[in-house]
Amino acid sequence: MKMEGGHAAVLIIFIFCSALLPSEATKRGSGNQYLYVGFYDKTCPLAEQIVADAVSRAFWTNRGNAAGLIRLFFHDCFVNGCDASILLDSTPSGEPVEKESPANGFTLRGLEVIDEIKSELEQECPGIVSCADILAFASREAVVRSGLTHYPVPAGRRDGRSSRAVDVIGNIPGPSLTIDAIAEIFAKKGFTIEEMVVLLGAHSIGVSHCSSFDYRLYNFNSTHSQDPNLNIRHATYLSFVCPPRESLLAQVEGNQAVAFDHPSPNRLDNIFYVHLLHGNALLQSDQAMAYDPRTSKIVTRLAFDLQAWSKEFPKAMIRLGTVDVLTGRKGEIRTTCRAVN
Ligand code: HEM
Ligand SMILES: *[C@@H]1O[C@H](CO)[C@@H](O)[C@H](O)[C@H]1NC(C)=O
Repeated sequence: MKMEGGHAAVLIIFIFCSALLPSEATKRGSGNQYLYVGFYDKTCPLAEQIVADAVSRAFWTNRGNAAGLIRLFFHDCFVNGCDASILLDSTPSGEPVEKESPANGFTLRGLEVIDEIKSELEQECPGIVSCADILAFASREAVVRSGLTHYPVPAGRRDGRSSRAVDVIGNIPGPSLTIDAIAEIFAKKGFTIEEMVVLLGAHSIGVSHCSSFDYRLYNFNSTHSQDPNLNIRHATYLSFVCPPRESLLAQVEGNQAVAFDHPSPNRLDNIFYVHLLHGNALLQSDQAMAYDPRTSKIVTRLAFDLQAWSKEFPKAMIRLGTVDVLTGRKGEIRTTCRAVN
């Protein structure tokens, strides 16, 4: 009899704890708000499948869409949280929106993919799926298309009503920032140095335009015209693709897009970290991770352990999706991702 009572008590405590800590829910940001896996199971059961199909189609049309979607997600979440503010073309205030900031400028990709998904979802279940969750699901599908295994994405984000270019400043790191400055930005968003290095492995796919790094080739600083941390052979190749801006060739060719990662420019893998070890990064900020004492060991570990990075990257993406989210009654569910309701 006594034993049974003990069991019952343990069981009750267990149930109580499970209720307090839903295993798949993620508590983040202010208030007691949760994101959870399967958020649309009852209200729009096909939501995640519709996103998956659309991203898959977009990927086979242009693989660059995968990189574009992952970057959109990062740029959304680091400015005012994951609230789809990056997608707004304008807001009632009339101020310049995030899209118009120089950090986003002309280089965002994948916006039409989100439009396509949103219009399909509005047909299927009007007013239910937020643009912020669409970005979270779509970036997951982009990761899967790029070669990593499927992972569950907690949902329940709501869409913000503000988007201001000025808010991008100080939240989206620039490519010439020091590791100190970059780590500070990531820390403000709740990331460890380790997670930061893992997340930057996203630069294993997609492109960078010459304008983001050509200063490393021609006018680095007052003592070095070329960045001494740039591998000489890589520098020769890059100077060929990105001639000096004032040259006739550059004026004919324009601002070229260069793949971050050879030989697997569309595959999420750890070759990016191997490149860092050899001085083959495009961005000064990426290269700096191989030299800074706080990050260099992590870079080396990941360069030698594809398995570890392939596991840690999805986790870091899930965490990215929890930054300052709006849940519950905050925000809204937009009808179109480009405008507030
Ligand atoms: C130190 C932090 C970071 C800096 C300085 C940075 C900077 C940049 C720059 C300069 C570009 C190229 C833009 C262009 O010239 O077209 C780029 C592209 C990209 N970034 Fe980052 N980034 C950072 C972190 C991240 C993170 C955390 C992610 C994702 C988790 C990410 C994902 C991407 C992707 C996928 C692209 C390629 C986009 C495309 O091909 O359309 N970046 N980033
Ligand atoms: C130029 O860059 C190199 C390599 O990063 C550095 O050692 C040097 O101190 C820099 N010079 C100036 C004037 O900042």
